[in-house]
Amino acid sequence: MKCRTCRGPAIIDLPRHNANFCAEHFLQMCRRQVEKAIHDHQMLNKTDRILVAVSGGKDSLAVWDMLIDLGYQADGLYVALGIGEYSEESRGYTERFADERGLKLTVVSLRDDYGYDIPTASRATGRVPCSACGMSKRHLFDKAAIDGGYDVVVTGHNLDDEAAVLFGNALRWDVEYLARQLPVLPSRHGFPKKVKPLIRLSEREMAAWCVVRGIDYIVDECPIAAGNKHIGFKEALNVLEEKSPGTKASYYLGFLDRMAPVLAGIAASGADSVTPCTRCGAPTGGEEGSVCAFCRLVERSAAHEPVSVELILKKSRSQKRAQSEVAQS
Ligand code: AMP
Ligand code: FES
Ligand code: ZN
Ligand code: ZN
Repeated sequence: MKCRTCRGPAIIDLPRHNANFCAEHFLQMCRRQVEKAIHDHQMLNKTDRILVAVSGGKDSLAVWDMLIDLGYQADGLYVALGIGEYSEESRGYTERFADERGLKLTVVSLRDDYGYDIPTASRATGRVPCSACGMSKRHLFDKAAIDGGYDVVVTGHNLDDEAAVLFGNALRWDVEYLARQLPVLPSRHGFPKKVKPLIRLSEREMAAWCVVRGIDYIVDECPIAAGNKHIGFKEALNVLEEKSPGTKASYYLGFLDRMAPVLAGIAASGADSVTPCTRCGAPTGGEEGSVCAFCRLVERSAAHEPVSVELILKKSRSQKRAQSEVAQS
């Protein structure tokens, strides 16, 4: 196996590029893909103050590493979600990454700073953990960026993530979600700009980036997100990718090129006015004098007695058992 660029020994084969690369030229290819995404979608400037939302997983550590490597000014933000050992370990990976490189990392803890965690919020609201988790993260990313005077929030969403979400939205023909599924959300109404520089790189490529660069990351997936429907969409797309390499990239990047412009009018028409939350001041879509969804979540969850990760896992296991019994009967 030879590197496409230098003909030296290759360390990775990338069927979608119909090529193999040595370590150096693999890194070069990844940097070029990120630079192209940043340039094509006007994501970032070298003078921007950037806040990278880092989970301790491969994608967000890789994007932070790449941005620093490319000469951007980027600090990190970690949200401690209180998902037992998984959260403790992922925080450890994130803190070690920042310490070793002398990078600035801010940590926000749901339990210490707001009096709840994700397992408890899931039980208090009676909804799946990912729902409280997503809402908490979105709110805290926005707040940290606004309070810290950052110009833009970066997340580690990659090609596989975006293609899976696109697949889900297209299966439901959710036109409003489709219209807003863009790699750049401009700042508006007190929300910061948000960008996804890894849209042209796959999950496998990000894992390889971390291995080549010597970045340790949490390999385990969140234990309570199992059964999340995006995982099923990813598996379905992987089957297609295996048969026909490049399918995922042409599906998602083709959507951005050819379908997103058609839907642009729908996205713009959703841009209505907002009022500040009477508790935290964050922008809300509600009427004058209303409280935002995050403050309502905090109120319900902090009043609930703490719930362990094990309890949530037990509940989801017994739900699965009941579903399979129904299916078999
Ligand atoms: P996920 O929602 O887990 O698919 O993660 C998507 C992106 O959100 C990651 O690539 C990170 O940029 C960010 N993110 C996820 N979890 C956290 C966390 N606990 N703290 C900070 N950022 C996070
Ligand atoms: Fe959000 Fe697991 S990381 S529910
Ligand atoms: Zn090479
Ligand atoms: Zn609020």
